Amino acid sequence: MKLLAEQKPVIKKIIMVTKKFEFDFEVYTSAEELNAADAALLLKARESTSLAYAPYSNFNVGAAAVLTDGNIVIGSNQENASYPVGICAERVLLSSAANLFPKVPIATMAISYKSAKGQNALPISPCGMCRQSLIEFENMVEHPIRIILSGMTGEVYIIANAGMLLPLGFTGKQLQ
Ligand code: THU
Repeated sequence: MKLLAEQKPVIKKIIMVTKKFEFDFEVYTSAEELNAADAALLLKARESTSLAYAPYSNFNVGAAAVLTDGNIVIGSNQENASYPVGICAERVLLSSAANLFPKVPIATMAISYKSAKGQNALPISPCGMCRQSLIEFENMVEHPIRIILSGMTGEVYIIANAGMLLPLGFTGKQLQ
């Protein structure tokens, strides 16, 4: 049988490769294992949960950051009856830092939460929007933000920079 032109097999050269993202992070069984500076910053984040305005979720988030010049900035989530208007603790902190201490890099940010539902031991996981804001801040000041994640008790994760939390993240470089 004769093959019609459009039925002829096409030999395609495929140069596809599989790439992998992975990153190491530190896991401590509790805040007691941290060095004094990290333990103090995490305590500040845990305390900042009391400043949250979260009547809708009853999920109070607190964040505390030490800047490279030694200043400390805090943040907490601020909700709204129109739910999407609410702002996460991390972005409240980033906005405060940018206004109080313009262009000063953040060395380390600790984030914690207090949930009315009772689960307070699992390290918090920042939302996608906050990850996007964190990498923007890193890029703006050209300095990594070391991230400490925890709850009110239990394990503590330490991640070397926020960029690791958003592989293939969208940045201003793509707009050039
Ligand atoms: N929230 C934060 O503030 N930070 C996070 O990392 C996760 C979520 C807030 C948003 C909302 O006010 C409440 O927690 C429940 O999602």
